[in-house]
Amino acid sequence: MTFTHRHLLGIEHLRQDEITTLLDLAEDYVTLNRATQKHGDALAGLTQVNMFFENSTRTQASFELAGKRLGADVMNMAMQASSITKGETLIDTAMTLNAMHPDLLVVRHPHSGAVDLLAQKVNCAVLNAGDGRHEHPTQALLDALTIRRAKGRLHRLSIAICGDIAHSRVARSNIILLGKMENRIRLIAPPTLMPAGIGEFGVEVYDDMAEGLKDVDVVMMLRLQRERMDGGFIPSSREYYHRYGLDAAKLAHAKPDAIVMHPGPMNRGVEIDGTLADDINRSVIQDQVEMGVAVRMAAMDLLARNQRALQGGVA
Ligand code: NCD
Repeated sequence: MTFTHRHLLGIEHLRQDEITTLLDLAEDYVTLNRATQKHGDALAGLTQVNMFFENSTRTQASFELAGKRLGADVMNMAMQASSITKGETLIDTAMTLNAMHPDLLVVRHPHSGAVDLLAQKVNCAVLNAGDGRHEHPTQALLDALTIRRAKGRLHRLSIAICGDIAHSRVARSNIILLGKMENRIRLIAPPTLMPAGIGEFGVEVYDDMAEGLKDVDVVMMLRLQRERMDGGFIPSSREYYHRYGLDAAKLAHAKPDAIVMHPGPMNRGVEIDGTLADDINRSVIQDQVEMGVAVRMAAMDLLARNQRALQGGVA
């Protein structure tokens, strides 16, 4: 088994075989999570602290459940975004926590790079639960597992990522992961929501849904992240939905068996039609949530094994 990292900070640090190792282990946890008795002991005796400096529903719940199912003591710290505007505050908080000897620190922060910085200051394993527009590695991994299960493979697929790409750490982590696994990636967004210099990532860029979705295997929709917008990026929600919102008519341009994904939370009627999102024949949005718990169990399990190995225990 290959996965030698101390932290999970971003997909950019992972090799193809490490991604596969993690997804394979996550498959075991999918099975465990579907059983009546859901307890494993991979994290028994360990302390997991969740520090979310930004609002989160599913990611925080998913990490909490993942830790508890593997036997960790899990603590959620309620962090107020307003109290962390200074860099020192973040480091101070980290040092205070560090003194309590946590083993796993799960961190979400509005600033890109904040989680990496924190990882340099503490002794425990740090998992990035989303930092600014930078990375959201467990989201990309759970998306990868969902795709692999639905399509039977994770390579040579044509995958469209659509919508607010400019503000999306989900898009960034997915572009890196799906690229490493040798897929063909298409980005579809209005020019105002397409990040500059994105061509360097080896992706195809479109501003028209009909063209971009043509014959793709996977359609990944993104939320319009208004909280990260400071100006007029889109004319109106209605106009946006008309041009970029995924509905059955636009989806008809994709392959007949193309799957529909969304990381949540969804703006129904803005980036996606509500009926389509709920259509279990096309939408795998609920599978994504299920895979999220399994992937986070696998990630924390692997990091805990590496931590034990570093401390001289049995890996
Ligand atoms: C995403 C995030 O926080 O980056 N959500 C999530 O983790 N499920 C995407 C989003 O907020 O739109």
